[in-house]
Amino acid sequence: SWTPDHFVDSAVEALQHTIGPDDQVILGLSGGVDSSVAALLLHRAIGPRLHGIFVDNGLLRKDEFETVLKAYEGLGLNVTGVNAAPEFYAALAGISDPEGKRKAIGRTFIEVFDREAHKVQGAAWLAQGTIYPDVIESVSVKGPAVTIKSHHNVGGLPEKMHLKVVEPLRMLFKDEVREVGAALGLPGEILNRHPFPGPGLGIRILGDITPEKVDLLQRADAVFVNLLKEHDLYQHVWQAGAMLLPVQSVGVMGDERTYERVVALRAVTSVDGMTADWAHLPYEFLAEVSNKIINQVRGINRVVYDISSKPPATIEWE
Ligand code: XMP
Repeated sequence: SWTPDHFVDSAVEALQHTIGPDDQVILGLSGGVDSSVAALLLHRAIGPRLHGIFVDNGLLRKDEFETVLKAYEGLGLNVTGVNAAPEFYAALAGISDPEGKRKAIGRTFIEVFDREAHKVQGAAWLAQGTIYPDVIESVSVKGPAVTIKSHHNVGGLPEKMHLKVVEPLRMLFKDEVREVGAALGLPGEILNRHPFPGPGLGIRILGDITPEKVDLLQRADAVFVNLLKEHDLYQHVWQAGAMLLPVQSVGVMGDERTYERVVALRAVTSVDGMTADWAHLPYEFLAEVSNKIINQVRGINRVVYDISSKPPATIEWE
């Protein structure tokens, strides 16, 4: 019968058999479960010949890049963190439609990843954290040629660098990936993480993206997610986050009238993201989140809660 330990043993053996003794392997790390588990498995098989590349696209959650990079290093992974935020912001400047933003983010990711991959001497393989549902499903597409796994899409790199592709999680379902991750010692903070889109906060800032808007949204989102964790609600919702709306509204603060931004909170229950219900979070909890955001994040004076289900709404707003 299938157990995570048996899987690890046989996968490690197969990887050692397949990957030549001097071959170097490149893997893009996203901070998500799949790429992290793939990394640990490969690390167990070939140690430092696995070269992880973790790109900061400037659209991650607050402190995420530093925290996750540290976690990877703590696990002994050979990983290079690449701060490419300025490059992504430059590519995104002035673009406000969702499809255009996804394309700019995807294109920039490929450029940055290519550049880093070419620095690895003796690279023979590109590893990917593809899991079984990615293989069988043509996952939902939001715009032409933009798939859910767009952040894993490394363009024509395998052909260009003559890399063979290795996908050690190809036969696993998500819950099995989590079990394997636990068996390999992946910390809970990564293991139980909500799904997060490849384009990140880029599709949660409606309209065009500036570093200032990213900072505002990161702070509001952090308040929401941290309170979900504190109140033991994080594991009861499938995905949650904040959206920065392209709207200003009037408020009062002391004697003064304010004219500031609106944040929408989104939390859903779901099995696979294909359909979703808005999470019926307690009013008291929502009140606490709203007060804390408005009090702590200068520039936001109104918080609303999204009560739409999918379909016909989607989980993201873009
Ligand atoms: P929607 O908004 O279509 O989202 O209901 C379903 C799931 O897919 C994620 N999502 C994306 N993931 N690149 C990604 O990697 C994308 O362009 C993208 N768009 C949506 C979304 O976060 C949710 O988990």
